[in-house]
Amino acid sequence: MLRTHTCGELRPSHIGGETALCGWVDRVRDHKGVIFVDLRDRWGKTQIVVGPDSPAETLAAARAVRPEWVIRVHGIVGARPEGTTNPKLATGGIEVLCRRLEVLNEAETPVFQPGAADLPGEEVRLAHRWLDLRRPQMQENMFLRSRIVKIMRDHFDELGFIDVETPMLGKSTPEGARDYLVPSRLEHGSFFALPQSPQLYKQLLMMAGFDRYVQVAKCFRDEDLRADRQPEFTQLDVEMSFVEADDVMGVIEGLVARTAREILGLEVPLPLPRLTWDECMERFGHDAPDLRFGLEIVDLTPLAGESEFRVFRGAVESGGRVRGIRVPAAAARFSRKDLDDLTAIAVEGGAKGLVWLKVEPDGTWSGPVAKNLGPIAEPLKAKLGCAPGDLAVIVADSFETTCKALHMLRKRLGGQLGLYDADAMHFSWVVDFPMFARDTETGGWASMHHPFTAPRPADLDILESDPAACRAVAYDLVINGSEAGGGTIRIHDGGTQEKVFQLLGITPEVARERFGFLLDALRSGAPPHGGIALGIDRWVMLFGKLDSIRDVIAFPKTQKASDLMTGAPAPVEPKQLTELGVRVVVPPPKPA
Ligand code: AMO
Ligand code: AMP
Repeated sequence: MLRTHTCGELRPSHIGGETALCGWVDRVRDHKGVIFVDLRDRWGKTQIVVGPDSPAETLAAARAVRPEWVIRVHGIVGARPEGTTNPKLATGGIEVLCRRLEVLNEAETPVFQPGAADLPGEEVRLAHRWLDLRRPQMQENMFLRSRIVKIMRDHFDELGFIDVETPMLGKSTPEGARDYLVPSRLEHGSFFALPQSPQLYKQLLMMAGFDRYVQVAKCFRDEDLRADRQPEFTQLDVEMSFVEADDVMGVIEGLVARTAREILGLEVPLPLPRLTWDECMERFGHDAPDLRFGLEIVDLTPLAGESEFRVFRGAVESGGRVRGIRVPAAAARFSRKDLDDLTAIAVEGGAKGLVWLKVEPDGTWSGPVAKNLGPIAEPLKAKLGCAPGDLAVIVADSFETTCKALHMLRKRLGGQLGLYDADAMHFSWVVDFPMFARDTETGGWASMHHPFTAPRPADLDILESDPAACRAVAYDLVINGSEAGGGTIRIHDGGTQEKVFQLLGITPEVARERFGFLLDALRSGAPPHGGIALGIDRWVMLFGKLDSIRDVIAFPKTQKASDLMTGAPAPVEPKQLTELGVRVVVPPPKPA
């Protein structure tokens, strides 16, 4: 070993002893001929002192070092002089009086200082990720990730789960996103699909009798990216045999409690609250609502139907809904400009506009359409529960649009008004999802989760006659308004699976061609089974109270799905394309 201790290890109990430390030069200060070097490694920082008592060549070497050089230091552990101890630093009670300083490697002036307070933009950080990852915050994030994954692995290991690896090169597993494809060199014109999830493999492992499976699985989805989405991400993937939804949820609740206790010192009361999908959409307009604050949606449709106001009447007459949110004591806080901003959010959510109303001190409504309310003015106030000083925002549109717009408004208002403690953690389940949703492009049915999800046993007889009303045995784990996991009980008989394929517009021929192996396996003794997958990146983000998924992934992609460090994706050699039988069609340049 080149060192005897790490840079985070030395304490006053080591005073008087010899030590050898290795690390990066974080900062050098020349203080009247005494040189202080802060030496950094992943364990911490130690102050090195090169003073008049140090050998002359050591003093010269210390004068020459620059930030980010890699050095090795030999010396004696000393107490920091009275008044210079640093209680914020674990090693703040000691310093190392340097006898010898060896440069292991010089460094060019770095693009940015990992130790500095002012950071460059994210693009620079991503392009020089190795420097960015030297930052204590990023190191903390990576350690947090490692600890969370360890807790997950321990939890499932203790419960008798087996860790099985499933292929990266496979056939498309539909999870609703576009596939990343890999061309085959040996079969020109054929492609592997990188897994969107190990869904079918884990079901086949149940059919093979493994009973309880777990995997830390890389998943690939070519979809539009957001702050909590990456094209390549990691799931904690779980599947169990001979279980019902409660059993899978129970295992995950144990993990939630354990992670919260070990990472945050937080006791989470179990069982976690459960909301049905219908209730979520009615009360919050979204299937992963942020339950750290109220601002619930109130249905005003029956009242609005009695009104002469064109906007309300129009929506009700065309089968839509009129729904609103009471924002307590917010009237005075929202200027005209703030209300225009809220209107813009509603419009971004698809609404045609936003009705906002304030309750004046005398109890009357004010706002651009207050006078249009007529006889419903008073009942509207009662229905919303509005009092003087309150603000109300109302959207009239289809149910889906009112959901989307009011959800976006709720999110914005909750944050803007500081309605929740940023440190609070709220865990809940959303259950009883619809089996199907209308595909907006084709108009046909699409799976709400994936095509292997079982309908509720009570809904089996309406599966074909009334697919819209059919509910699935599905459960999503929601943490602070973020979907942190999702799972379902699976279809385990071939007949039901074929019916579901048919409903999704997958003909028997196509079903056989794409999923023949599954249909055969379902007919060769498939146990009842179900499972779940947790988004590990999102868990780390949420437990670490971080805003960006990129900060919990060592080498992430940008929002445009590219890697700024390596330059991937990148063109390849024509020879490689020829070998793969691939010809590239370069799109014509976009008109300026
Ligand atoms: P689902 O598609 O809901 O379910 O994915 C499970 C969880 O994975 C996380 N997640 C993502 N995280 C980061 N970037 C992404 N692009 C991304 N997409 C999903 C979310 C999500 O809740 N096979 C099923 C699970 C099952 O039924 O067992 C599946 O993949 O946290
Ligand atoms: P208009 O008569 O279209 O200018 O609308 C009158 C007011 O109602 C404006 O403040 C609009 O923002 C608002 N508004 C219009 N359509 C809707 C709608 N579908 N839902 C809620 N508010 C609306």
